[in-house]
Amino acid sequence: MSNWPRVPGIAYGGDYNPEQWPESTWTEDIALMREAGVSMVTVGVFSWALLERREGEFDFGWLDRVFDLLHEAGIAVDLATATASPPPWFSRAYPDTLPVTKEGHRLWPGSRQAYCPSSTRYRQAATNLARALAQRYGQHPALVMWHINNEYGCHVPQCYCDGSAAAFRNWLQARYHDVEALNAAWGTAFWSQHYTAFDEILPPRSTPTWANPTQQLDWYRFASDELLACFTSERDAIHEVTPDIPITTNFMGAFKPVNYFDWAPHEDVVSNDHYLLGADPSPHVQLAMSADLVRAAGHGAPWILMEHSTSAVNWQPRNLAKQPGQLARNSLQHVARGADAVCFFQWRASRAGAEKFHSGMVPHAGTDTKVWREVVELGKHLKSLGEVAGSRVQAEVAILFDWNAWWAVELDSHPSTDVQYLTIVRDYYESLWRQGVTIDFARPDDDLSAYKLVVVPALYLVTDQAAAAIGDYVRAGGHLLCTFFSGIVDENDALRLGGYPGAFRDLLGVKVEEFFPLAEGEVVQLSDDARGTVWTEALHPAGANVVATYVDGPLAGWPAVTAHHAGDGLGHYVTTRLDQDSLARLIARCCAEAGVRPPIIAASGIEVVRRRGDGASYLFVINHTQQEADVQAVGEELLTGRAVTDSLRLPAGGVAVVRETH
Ligand code: GLA
Repeated sequence: MSNWPRVPGIAYGGDYNPEQWPESTWTEDIALMREAGVSMVTVGVFSWALLERREGEFDFGWLDRVFDLLHEAGIAVDLATATASPPPWFSRAYPDTLPVTKEGHRLWPGSRQAYCPSSTRYRQAATNLARALAQRYGQHPALVMWHINNEYGCHVPQCYCDGSAAAFRNWLQARYHDVEALNAAWGTAFWSQHYTAFDEILPPRSTPTWANPTQQLDWYRFASDELLACFTSERDAIHEVTPDIPITTNFMGAFKPVNYFDWAPHEDVVSNDHYLLGADPSPHVQLAMSADLVRAAGHGAPWILMEHSTSAVNWQPRNLAKQPGQLARNSLQHVARGADAVCFFQWRASRAGAEKFHSGMVPHAGTDTKVWREVVELGKHLKSLGEVAGSRVQAEVAILFDWNAWWAVELDSHPSTDVQYLTIVRDYYESLWRQGVTIDFARPDDDLSAYKLVVVPALYLVTDQAAAAIGDYVRAGGHLLCTFFSGIVDENDALRLGGYPGAFRDLLGVKVEEFFPLAEGEVVQLSDDARGTVWTEALHPAGANVVATYVDGPLAGWPAVTAHHAGDGLGHYVTTRLDQDSLARLIARCCAEAGVRPPIIAASGIEVVRRRGDGASYLFVINHTQQEADVQAVGEELLTGRAVTDSLRLPAGGVAVVRETH
């Protein structure tokens, strides 16, 4: 994670797809980009078919002209390697590169991303194109960054073809070395699944009933690694030609198939795409969570918001347009949470194609529009925030997040399908967010000593090493808040015996003898006025104090929430899914006990985040409510240049960024 930034201040721009337009439009594009203060655009994301019109025959003429136009205008280029969608000639010549579904159905070309990630033919062709682009543009003065492929896995995260099966076997052989080790790890004594050779192993294709769970878990790991191998193959070819130009690929926040915590160390800078979901009752909380997760992938370093939308998207059942002011509010919320670049998909809304109803920076209706005026205004805002670039978000609370736990906890034939990983993570995230607390996500085996409180939502799978690190954190004085269905299995999805929550039993001073999941919609009452759904469990305290018990339900009279002192620390354990109010009370109590405080005290719905850089600190204040609000701050408000002497009045929906004076 090194040599970004290459563009001064907060970079501003978006995906620029000039090939969709006549060249006469390009001149207007450049003039408008200057008007909006655009400093960087991503070019070529879906240009393979127009860059390599026939195998090995490159046509760079049009892209040369685009590069020169942008450079003359002082706009930097983030060059995509164009490998996200192979052209029609490629799929026709090499039909075995097309992906195959779990049921054995081969997908046709005609949309995008129609390739098998394990196909050596695809990887070679993609790597050749990436190398050719590096040789052509590596020395161009406009080039500041490489954008490899695009949203790896977004449509085809896994391919089940025979080539993928062979690659899976190689991956397994590298992991287990001999087949008996695999048999032990997968528990193949069950259901007559014992393998005598790696050659007998297949992907978890459509089978009569549940495939072996560890096979499924390894398949997730393999599939994420295969996509990563596509990325590193292109990256290595480019690095040979341009070792000093930073390389990225765009993540998609909490995207289950790709383990971004594993991927991020292979990039120079992390970038993210985020789109609001119309069906989410609090999309701004979802935005914050995505931003925080991606920041964690880069261990807190500033990151690039590679895509978001100026207004509606095209791919949801109902695509909500943004309200006046929402564009800036969304963009600056990402900056508050560590983004040092704000980019959109896409520069100019398309005339044709599947995404023609997706908003752009230049709308179909032209520049006399809300969207364009707000795009220009945002450019000015970002300019005035230049000095914020490079600063880091400050957080006292961490939520542990883990892709392996996510994959494993949602495998089939589990106690309840209502245990959905992101739902539980979001419960705790949102509750903390509503109390104004800034959150870092962390890996379970990270050094957690800098945090006052660590939250462990549904960490079903945990390695011995991570369990030990969490234990060390608590015993050294840390505060832990852990939910049900944590610490249950090891990295092979094998149960930790002796009572749940196996890995955390001693740390939390409890022993659970049986799970009692609740029926759909069933609600149980707790002694402290709290209510629970989804899950309960028969818990015996083994050192822990009982904080609340069940009043009714299958376990009336049994403990529901406990607290246990371990070493110098304290661990809370929650055996049910608490409703919002009850969870808010518990979180408030845990924060108070741990000494966690929000950056400043503000009314509910006012988001406050502090970024700190070389000797300066910046307070981002975002009003998500319908009323104006006052917050305490002293310093200079950077968007308006006004001095703030003791308090700041923020209109409904408004944003302020204060360089603080202490
Ligand atoms: C993704 C893709 C873009 C575009 C947008 C639309 O983020 O990377 O190419 O399809 O979605 O929202």
